[in-house]
Amino acid sequence: MSRYKIAWLPGDGVGNDVMEAAQIVLDALKLDAEYVHGDIGWEFWKTEGNPLPDRTIEMMKQTDCALFGAITSKPKDEAVKELAPALRDKGLVYFSPIVRLRQEFDLYVNMRPCKAFAGNPLNYRDDIDLVVFRENTQGMYAGVEFYPVDAGLKQAMADRNSKMKRFMDVPDDEIAISTRIITKEGAERIIRAAFEYAGTAGKKTVTLVEKPNVLRETGGMMTRVARDVALDFPGIELWETNIDAMCMWLVKNPQNYGVLVAENLFGDIISDLSAQLVGGLGFASSASTGDNYAVFEPTHGSAPKYAGRYKVNSMAMLLSVKLMLDYLKETDKAMRLENAISEVIREEKIRTYDMGGSNTSLEVAEAVAGKL
Ligand code: IPM
Ligand code: MG
Repeated sequence: MSRYKIAWLPGDGVGNDVMEAAQIVLDALKLDAEYVHGDIGWEFWKTEGNPLPDRTIEMMKQTDCALFGAITSKPKDEAVKELAPALRDKGLVYFSPIVRLRQEFDLYVNMRPCKAFAGNPLNYRDDIDLVVFRENTQGMYAGVEFYPVDAGLKQAMADRNSKMKRFMDVPDDEIAISTRIITKEGAERIIRAAFEYAGTAGKKTVTLVEKPNVLRETGGMMTRVARDVALDFPGIELWETNIDAMCMWLVKNPQNYGVLVAENLFGDIISDLSAQLVGGLGFASSASTGDNYAVFEPTHGSAPKYAGRYKVNSMAMLLSVKLMLDYLKETDKAMRLENAISEVIREEKIRTYDMGGSNTSLEVAEAVAGKL
């Protein structure tokens, strides 16, 4: 029997291309693992009306963690048009399977390292090394949204908050509400994870990215909890920044930041911005972890037009494999992989199109495997 059982979820689009790249590197590392394929993605939405079939979730529960490629996701009206004819009138609503996985397995930490590797021509600066900790289960991604908004709901809200009164006369189908729900526990566990990471990684600061001057309640909760958690980590400074200013600071002085922590949507936004500072989505890896399970994935989408062409940069996937090895406590393999990746980048020989070269996703993986 293998030491690990890993759910293998290529998804669709370029997900398959980069998963093949991952396999090359995992084989070269001789990780003692069994990889179990799981159905997930656009194809299953079209044919079954469910992009994340229950059988896949059940299978995942039997594994240590999952490696995930990419998935196409579309707004709900467009998605319905692509359903198989027999499924079209059933009122099925498309949901993002990756968001569902995060909630289903309570993967509350989304960790996204953004490090400028020497020799990467796409670096905005060469001295950037920051890590985003994004809350992954709550906030505006909780899915608590309303449309249309009936009179009863409007009234219930107005009874509690007079600011709602301004909207009472808007017709039900001309108003939509998306909520941002943050619990104290939800805030605490992501902020604590950020501080703990800062402690082990030797980072001097944790920056809370929020907007408490406007989002007084949720932003206020995040700020209070952050100040509280910070007391347990005397060696690490808590910085507090508003999301808008943070976008400016990240362009101005990204080298000054160590760990950033944010609720779900703000984390989503700053993680793309941070990724672009170190080469874009081709270098953006991520780990979604909870207390019992973890999913590793490159942050990029499925880029359907490149599917099967092995064109996209597989570095983001290989860096996600590195995060998976960290999680499995395969520290030596994780270190060797990261060193091999940085050596390949430093040599400036193997480059995919985004870096101005013409190498394939698989050639990148083979070059990295060659350094192992
Ligand atoms: C990400 C992506 C996802 C998100 C999409 C694909 C639903 O942008 O992982 O950052 O918004 O979380
Ligand atoms: Mg995103």
